[in-house]
Parts: sequence; C-alpha cells; structure tokens
Amino acid sequence: MSRSLPALLLLLVLAPAIAAEVDSDTGLIKAAGWETVRAHCGGCHSHALVTQQRADRQSWLDMIRWMQATQNLWQFPADVEAQILDYLAANYPPQADRRRAPIPASLMPRAAASN
Ligand code: HEC
Repeated sequence: MSRSLPALLLLLVLAPAIAAEVDSDTGLIKAAGWETVRAHCGGCHSHALVTQQRADRQSWLDMIRWMQATQNLWQFPADVEAQILDYLAANYPPQADRRRAPIPASLMPRAAASN
C-alpha cells in the first residue's frame, strides 16, 4: 500500500489538469462561467477567437470595452461581466513565452553549406 502512495499523490496533483475538459462545440474550457462566455462571446465571431487569446483580467476588460465601443457588443450587468472576466482571466491567462523550445541541433537537417 505504502509503495503506491507516491503514485497516488502524483495523481492528486495532476487530476485537476487532466480534468480540465474542453467543450467539443466551442473549444471553451469547461470551468465555472464557461456557459456564460459561450452565450455571450460566440455570436459575432468564433469562440476560437476567444480561446486563442491570452490576457490578464484588465486586458480582457479592455478588449470587451473595445468591442462595446466599436463592434456593437452589448453591455453586461456587473455580475455577468465579473463572471466572464473571472473565467477568462483564470482559464486564458497571459503566458510569458508561448513559443516551443528550439529544435535540438541533432534533430535538424544538415545545413546545405556543410554538404
Ligand atoms: C457584437 C459582436 C461581438 C460579440 C458579441 C463579441 N465580440 Fe469579440 N470581437 C468582435 C469583433 C467585430 C472583433 C474583431 C474581429 C476581427 O478582427 O476579425 C472581435 C474580436 C475579438 C477578439 C480578438 C481581439 C484582438 O485583439 O485580436 C477577442 C479576444 C474577442 N473578440 C473576445 C470576445 C469575448 C471574450 C466576447 C464575450 C465577452 C466577445 N468577443 C463577444 C465582435 C464581438
């Protein structure tokens, strides 16, 4: 029993990440508030425009304000807006570096010059 404890602990640590389910229709992460975002953020453009974006709460708010000012996005009641912002900031936060790691030199084709 005690030998399986590390595996069990690892599972407990990883479980939330494994459980992060994605809605197959919209691509939205199914977390608190996702249905509100589904209802309000897919009418004019694909939800993919939302899921491919990363920003902190303030920048998400700026985008919403920009759409409200220029793209006819409707106004939200304060509680609905808070729910949307909580969801976006929690599930699509800024990422310092979204680039993949460089391909190791050993996996690259030989440079033409060295042939
Ligand atoms: C009333 C229409 C409308 C609704 C509803 C709407 N948007 Fe938009 N949104 C737009 C338009 C128009 C654009 C610009 C699309 C383009 O550039 O092709 C846009 C662009 C965006 C972008 C890209 C911004 C960028 O800088 O590239 C994001 C992210 C976004 N919307 C998120 C959302 C979120 C989150 C919601 C829900 C709160 C939402 N949108 C609801 C009209 C809307």
